[in-house]
Amino acid sequence: MYICICNAVTEADIRNAAAEGVRNLKQLTRLNGCGSTCGCCKEPAAEVLVQAVAEEQAIQNMIPVM
Ligand code: FES
Repeated sequence: MYICICNAVTEADIRNAAAEGVRNLKQLTRLNGCGSTCGCCKEPAAEVLVQAVAEEQAIQNMIPVM
């Protein structure tokens, strides 16, 4: 599903960005332009990013440290 129509950024793109270490909207915008045109996607993009980051951190906490 597209979150940012102006820059063709999907929910999957945002989740992939979180998996690659993106942690805030500024970093996401720098990576793929999300929110940089009309800006109306900033709130839903931030919501997806916050959820994706939380899931990433939960996964990191499940990996046993050797
Ligand atoms: S919909 Fe994302 S900048 Fe316009």
